[in-house]
Formats: sequence, structure tokens, C-alpha cells
Amino acid sequence: MRALLQMCLAAWCVASPIAVVTIAQGNPEAARVKNPVAATTESLGDGKRIYQRYCASCHGSNAEGGPGNDLIPAAPDLTDKESKHGSTDGEIFSVIKNGVPPELNMIPFGDQIKDTEIWNVVNYIRSLAKRN
Ligand code: HEC
Repeated sequence: MRALLQMCLAAWCVASPIAVVTIAQGNPEAARVKNPVAATTESLGDGKRIYQRYCASCHGSNAEGGPGNDLIPAAPDLTDKESKHGSTDGEIFSVIKNGVPPELNMIPFGDQIKDTEIWNVVNYIRSLAKRN
């Protein structure tokens, strides 16, 4: 009985932080990752090129969101203050690299776009942010 109780306690200890991460919006672990790429003119230019190629079809050419279709729900505005999945550079990076599970309507780009290029896109999205 005692052993069983200890096992349950151990399982709770393992399970509870995972539950907290799942419930919380955003991604605290990803939020701690620092952006290693400075937002230079080159970075923003490359980010824009990649954005137009891979992202504009869903999020719109000005990143203000897309209407979606029968298969894909509307893609959110990336220039406003609201961001369901976190608004730090690290969280945006993680969304682009890993997608948004479990539906993955926002698909993962980790195998198509190199990390440095993803950071360029993060810098580009940041440069579009509305300032009001
Ligand atoms: C197939 C359509 C599609 C493509 C292509 C796409 N996205 Fe998304 N994206 C979505 C959808 C739909 C969501 C909302 C996902 C959710 O909340 O479940 C989303 C969510 C996001 C979010 C989170 C926004 C928030 O409010 O937290 C970011 C950031 C993002 N996308 C960036 C990008 C970038 C950058 C690219 C290109 C590399 C890209 N997306 C390509 C459909 C797409």
C-alpha cells in the first residue's frame, strides 16, 4: 500500500508540470529561448522572402490574417497584439518550427526552413507589429 502511494505521488509529480504546460497558453519553455539573429536589413529582407513564399498563402501577403477555406481554418493576424500561442521571439520560433499541435492547422516548417531562416521570419513578423 505504501509503495503504491509513493508510486502515485511520483506519477503526480511527473504528470503535473506537463499538465500545467498543456493548459497554459503560450509555451514557457520556448519563451526562454533567446533570438540569436539580429534584426538587420539582411535578416528582415530574407524573412520577408521566406514569409511570402511559405506563409502568405494562409496568413495573407500583409500578415493580417487569411480567411481559411473548407480544409484550413482562418489563419490569425500576425501583426496584432493578440497571440494565442505566445508572443516572445522564442514562442513564435517554436510555432513556426513545430507547428501548433494537435490539429497542426499551423503546419510545422522545421524540415523545410533552416533555423536561421526561421529567426529571420520571426524578425520580419516583429517588424510588422502594429504599435498602438
Ligand atoms: C496552411 C496554412 C498555414 C500556413 C502555410 C502557415 N500558417 Fe501559421 N497558422 C495557421 C493557422 C490555421 C494558425 C492557427 C493555429 C491554431 O491556433 O491552432 C496559425 C498560427 C500561426 C502563429 C501563431 C499565431 C498566434 O496567434 O499565436 C504564427 C506565429 C504563425 N502561424 C506563423 C506562420 C509563419 C511564419 C508561416 C510561414 C513559415 C506560417 N504561419 C504558415 C495556418 C498557416
